[in-house]
Amino acid sequence: MTNIFLDTIQGKNTERPPVWFMRQAGRVLPNYRALKENYTFSELMEDPELAAKVTLMPIYDLGVDAAILFSDILVVPEALGMSLKFTDAGPVFGAPLHTYDDPVKQLNKDMTKLDHVYAAIDKIIETRPEGKPLIGFCGGLLTTFCFMFRDNVRDITFKNATEFLYKDRKTSQKIIDALTEVSVEYAVKQAEHGVEAFQLFETYGGLLPEEMYLEMILPASQKILQAVRDKGIPTIYFPKDLGHGISAVTKDVSDFVGIDWRMSLKYARSIVDPEVGLQGNLDPRILYASQAEIEAELNKTYLPFGRDNQKWIFNLGHGILPDLPVENVQFVIDWVKSVDWQR
Ligand code: CP3
Repeated sequence: MTNIFLDTIQGKNTERPPVWFMRQAGRVLPNYRALKENYTFSELMEDPELAAKVTLMPIYDLGVDAAILFSDILVVPEALGMSLKFTDAGPVFGAPLHTYDDPVKQLNKDMTKLDHVYAAIDKIIETRPEGKPLIGFCGGLLTTFCFMFRDNVRDITFKNATEFLYKDRKTSQKIIDALTEVSVEYAVKQAEHGVEAFQLFETYGGLLPEEMYLEMILPASQKILQAVRDKGIPTIYFPKDLGHGISAVTKDVSDFVGIDWRMSLKYARSIVDPEVGLQGNLDPRILYASQAEIEAELNKTYLPFGRDNQKWIFNLGHGILPDLPVENVQFVIDWVKSVDWQR
């Protein structure tokens, strides 16, 4: 059976680009909001039946071409022994790493903490509609590192993490090594349980100087991606805000690279290895505009790009925001599926 998402990510030609949205599970869906009346986010994520249900919701309710596992990037620090709570304001660790004299000593690997994720994957594979692939994921190393030091949900500068990184690079490297080890095992297990693609979410890829990111983080990220690719699973690496640094994401690093909304797809295409596909990059905030304005932007930018480029997955330049009008989310998906791409 042909499959538009898998064909595209495997480099085959298709009649239109596939479409899915980051953070499509949860957030804007009325059926998700109804579930949230009765369950917390952690309950939904940790119960395999409920996690499977939420994962598949965007397939049924929005008609996207792929599902992404309903979980969170911060389960990896949990598997390193950190206690985590999802509050209404956001995720909070019981004891962020900078509060310890020797943070590395605090990290105690316990991979059984991730068993609920594999059970959810099994349930999704068992219950999903035919031909709808499942995308697995884990957090980028820098992004996850940053959250492990955060003691204030409103801190988007990640002061504790960046301060620690510059003060003690050696220990920082040890923490990144520990994260890499768990992430590799986690990613491989996801592949063994049946995810058909894998995305590395490096949301804060723009936090450090480009050179520093490429030296300190990229090689370890490549290890995670390679472990998945060794299992025959194609990868998407999304180092958000890395700017020109994305040109370092060659075919030896990842099959696809995610593009945020700051860089045009056309420019990204001109600097990224031609063998690496692109995913992105509609600014999610354009979904606050009218459908006529959204359609004009799609026709102006995305239609010509999609006619000229096969190696492209339509997505946003970052995740869906919780207050975006769901009918505009639907509008974009329907547009991608109905417009004449003439390929
Ligand atoms: O894409 C999907 O819909 C699949 C599930 C998914 C979640 N988080 C569920 C979630 C994915 C892929 C993530 C990734 C994630 N988590 C990232 C990287 C991508 C990004 O959006 O930047 C980051 C930085 C996190 C950490 C995190 N988890 C934060 C900062 C928050 C609170 C604010 C927010 O984003 O909603 C969470 C909680 C979280 N993770 C929710 C969901 C559905 C909200 C829980 C709720 O509904 O109350």
